[in-house]
Amino acid sequence: MPRKLAAGNWKMNGMAASLAEIDALVKAHPSPACEVLICPPATLIAQMAWKVGKNPIALGGQDCHSEASGAHTGDISAPMLADAGASYVIVGHSERRADHRETDVDVAAKARAAHAAGLTAVICVGETEAQRDAGETLAIIGAQLAGSLPESATPANSVVAYEPVWAIGTGRTPTLEQIGEVHGFLRAELAKRFEGTAADMRLLYGGSVKPSNAAEIFAVADVDGALVGGASLKADDFGPIVAAL
Ligand code: G3P
Repeated sequence: MPRKLAAGNWKMNGMAASLAEIDALVKAHPSPACEVLICPPATLIAQMAWKVGKNPIALGGQDCHSEASGAHTGDISAPMLADAGASYVIVGHSERRADHRETDVDVAAKARAAHAAGLTAVICVGETEAQRDAGETLAIIGAQLAGSLPESATPANSVVAYEPVWAIGTGRTPTLEQIGEVHGFLRAELAKRFEGTAADMRLLYGGSVKPSNAAEIFAVADVDGALVGGASLKADDFGPIVAAL
């Protein structure tokens, strides 16, 4: 089984002063049992890579363009992220899907670009509250998974993050049964494609993970870690989540 993954998505938060959180995290958890990933804003990746040094913290981008270079003002490519020190990139976060109208086809193209650059893609899926209320959760998740994982995806170069849109930044989380249902469904869908190695693809839960609920969420079958937003910004919050894995 691959190592579990505690991933922090800083979103559009973090200044140079925030690099001190890396020192605090390393000091409190010098040898974490799980893999630790921080996805800061792109402006901080290179400085953070220097700050991390040889400590066991991987870095990732929060998005990448589907092309390696070119006339795309304001965009960042997967090779650029790798060059800055990233080994992961999040693609298809619901905030990107909503704010930038990214489709599954767009997300698959970005994941393909990430793989070509040697990055591990953290591919996000998740239903809205209206979709859950309509009983469409598994159909939506299944369609997003099928459409967003490119043919280049393998259990080694991809991670799937289940983030119910209604649980992001709201303090609300699905029940443990609901998390287990979706993760079990994801594993079964992946098994159709990857057969015996589907268990090697890590499935993260994301949405209002915090120190007080991390352990119970991590105990759910087929939850291989978390993609954490707000509670990843401070080492005092993220550290206990790392320790719970
Ligand atoms: O990608 C992480 C995320 O969307 C969850 O955010 O703040 O609810 O932990 P948060």
